Amino acid sequence: MKSKFKIQTILSQFDKNLDNIISEDIPILKKIKKQVISSGGKRIRPFAHYLFCQFLNVKDVSWLDVGSVAELIHAASLLHDDVVDNAPIRRGKPTIGASFGNKTAILAGDYLLACGISRLNTLGNPELMEIFSQVLRDLSVSELLQMEWEKNPNITLKIYDQIIYGKTASLFGVCTEAAAILANQSKEKRKEFRQFGVRLGKLFQKKDDCLDYFVDSKASGKEFLKDFKNGLFTYPVLVLRSKLSLLEKRKLNQLFQKETRNANDETIILDLMNAKHVPSLLHKELEKEKNELLVFLNQFPKSEERELFIEQLGRLT
Ligand code: FPP
Ligand code: MG
Repeated sequence: MKSKFKIQTILSQFDKNLDNIISEDIPILKKIKKQVISSGGKRIRPFAHYLFCQFLNVKDVSWLDVGSVAELIHAASLLHDDVVDNAPIRRGKPTIGASFGNKTAILAGDYLLACGISRLNTLGNPELMEIFSQVLRDLSVSELLQMEWEKNPNITLKIYDQIIYGKTASLFGVCTEAAAILANQSKEKRKEFRQFGVRLGKLFQKKDDCLDYFVDSKASGKEFLKDFKNGLFTYPVLVLRSKLSLLEKRKLNQLFQKETRNANDETIILDLMNAKHVPSLLHKELEKEKNELLVFLNQFPKSEERELFIEQLGRLT
């Protein structure tokens, strides 16, 4: 109970800070702020940054702004992503695009980004400025790369890895690396911390790809089979593909190359996934990666924050 209270205090500090950073109060931004910032996010990125600052005993209070900026970049990227994906729901609620139109969603995303960058600038730390700017490049490039490879069966695991690095892992990497920067650590330490964040981010994205196929929209808060409908070769499909005969691969490719995929196509892909034991293969792989990340975390002294983070990691596979 005590531990939950402490963590809640940290998370509510982030909430208050976000409220303060997003200062504009025209009615549409107020609504968006409420929906995007105050609703249902787990704050996993700010929390990871905070935890790694604790590991290094960071006294600098910049952690609050750095974590908040990470959350703002994440929120802005989701606003844009829902436009790209034409997504009707997120976190169980209509997306901003669905409620107010795509133009509003894009401009609101731009506004959140501008707020984040402006706050980061006040910290006067060029190293932080540099790594966060790189994240913005990574996000945009990976979304373009993903679009380029949509419906293309020649996509390789290497390209998939590049996509998930840019769209998810790069920001996680910055959250953990930024802790080492605030603690004035060596380049090696920065790299080691970044590596953890990058691996965590990739695990996170692979899990997210699995939700699309194996978790209904009520539990995931997102449209079921959205990635499949959009013709994206995500991780479960790449694992499935590696288990197929030449003939089966050809059929799979035809499914993705169609203009749109109907309910019958959905049954075909789900049956194939089950027949080739893709859910259990994925579970095993993600579980193994998660356990390796746990070994890294366990080298640091036990704390309430570390245990809560481990608990959140536990829910990943
Ligand atoms: C979600 O992945 C997508 C992202 C985390 C990144 C989206 C990035 C952009 C649209 C580029 C915008 C760039 C900037 C700088 C804001 P997903 O589609 O796999 O997950 P989902 O199922 O939650 O939609
Ligand atoms: Mg997307």
